[in-house]
Amino acid sequence: MQCHNLPGPGLHTASEWPQVLGRMNMRMQMMGGMMGVAAPDPVQLEILLGYLQRYAQKPINAATYPDLDTPPSRAFSTTCMQCHALPDPKQHTAREWPSVVTRMRSNMTAMGKIVPDEILTENKLSKQYCA
Ligand code: HEC
Repeated sequence: MQCHNLPGPGLHTASEWPQVLGRMNMRMQMMGGMMGVAAPDPVQLEILLGYLQRYAQKPINAATYPDLDTPPSRAFSTTCMQCHALPDPKQHTAREWPSVVTRMRSNMTAMGKIVPDEILTENKLSKQYCA
């Protein structure tokens, strides 16, 4: 949190984290001396990577969802792939999902992304995707 808000580990998948963390580490090492930013040592970096990967976004396995090309599924993918990999629906129970989706709605507002109501009323997303 020395440079930006705390990122949720679910923002990236386990296979994406090494590259993202590598890029952030480079910046921290560079900014270390000059701006007093504390950079992790290699052991701390490994611990960080383990944590991020443990709680990482679990991407959908498209092969196991034959209905991904139906209108509801397309709404799901255009909405939920704006910021991270398309989530595997199995990573939460039916009872857990409503609060996750409510949080994602706040993420969408905070990060200036299209929220589903706007997609329905203004069809902005398809315009954005077709531009
Ligand atoms: C505006 C960008 C954005 C969009 C669009 C978005 N997310 Fe996220 N998502 C995030 C961020 C940032 C995180 C990590 C922080 C957090 O968990 O809130 C995250 C984390 C997650 C996680 C892992 C954390 C957890 O609670 O399990 C899941 C699952 C998830 N998103 C599902 C969805 C779904 C489903 C949609 C579509 C309804 C969606 N996201 C749309 C930004 C977004």
